[in-house]
Amino acid sequence: MKHIGIIGVGEYLPEKRLTNADLEKTIDTSDEWITTRTGIKERRLAAKAEAVSDLGYKAALEAIKSAKLKPQDIELIITATITPDMSFPSTACFIQSNLGAKQAVAFDISAACSGFIYGLVLAQQFLARGVYKNALVIGAEKLSAVTDWNDRNTCVLFGDGAGAAVLAPVSSGGILSSYLGSDGSYTDLLMLPGGGSRNPASSHTIEKRMHYMKMQGNELFKLAVNLMSHAAEVAIERAGLKPQDISLLVPHQANTRIIMAVAKKLHFPADKIFINIQKYGNMSSASAATALCEAVKEGRVKKGDIILLDAFGAGLTWGACVIKW
Ligand code: COA
Repeated sequence: MKHIGIIGVGEYLPEKRLTNADLEKTIDTSDEWITTRTGIKERRLAAKAEAVSDLGYKAALEAIKSAKLKPQDIELIITATITPDMSFPSTACFIQSNLGAKQAVAFDISAACSGFIYGLVLAQQFLARGVYKNALVIGAEKLSAVTDWNDRNTCVLFGDGAGAAVLAPVSSGGILSSYLGSDGSYTDLLMLPGGGSRNPASSHTIEKRMHYMKMQGNELFKLAVNLMSHAAEVAIERAGLKPQDISLLVPHQANTRIIMAVAKKLHFPADKIFINIQKYGNMSSASAATALCEAVKEGRVKKGDIILLDAFGAGLTWGACVIKW
């Protein structure tokens, strides 16, 4: 089996910032509550005319450039998103068209906040078997479009953005191991009930605000800590490593308290954890993708380092991936 590594990363964050102080003006909340409970200080909001493929396209362009490739070279495009431009065609096809990546096979996957890691593992399977020469994996979300801005339990948590990575065979290192999990018995903990085939859009679904996400935060918190810790442990073990061999934990950014609880279970010191939630909130599939991109840009990831990506999301889904840079 070939070694498959990440040869380029990119991100795009919309310009508009929504601070905790801005939210204090519209709902019954406080900067103090949001900061201490979540670590979030502000989040980005896409413009009205910006769809998820527009965000993903810009992140993809940066990733392709940093991989020293051209869009026409890309052979596989996987977009992880739960806020696609439309139910169909896929957001990946819109991005393919914008890129002019005519030879690429393009499709979406839906694994919520674990989507970027699911996408990396899926791409690795194709590349390791030589089916394609390279792959572009994008995590992109416009969660502001499905957020109930009157619901303080959810609206303080989420934001918009996109991150991307280009994968290709590398001479050594690359993805050392991975672990993915799902448990559909928890579908009710985080969902967007309206607009699909279960509850097609109607005046009833609009009246009941079913086109906004519904979340049971407390339940999710406990599951997130346990399942992210478990995913990390399994992936590290599958790589034949110990937690102390990991140079940097790059986790899904749902809540600083969740990240720190996972780090505590794994005995990771604070300087081995990458956190950017204060700037962006939870961007679902885009969180781990932009965190990886920013960790690289900030020089926190050097050649030979061993990175642990770790995520958890609606479904439930979870996953972790150990990568030697
Ligand atoms: N501002 C002020 N108060 C708020 C608030 C807000 N934005 N949101 C909720 N509260 C209130 C609640 O109404 C509750 O008040 P009550 O005690 O009078 O009923 C109180 O704060 C405590 O709520 P609770 O839900 O116990 O807080 P918490 O410490 O569990 O934190 C979350 C809430 C949502 C931040 C936390 O549970 C969490 O992060 N869960 C995981 C969510 C997640 O990651 N989802 C995505 C998965 S990828």
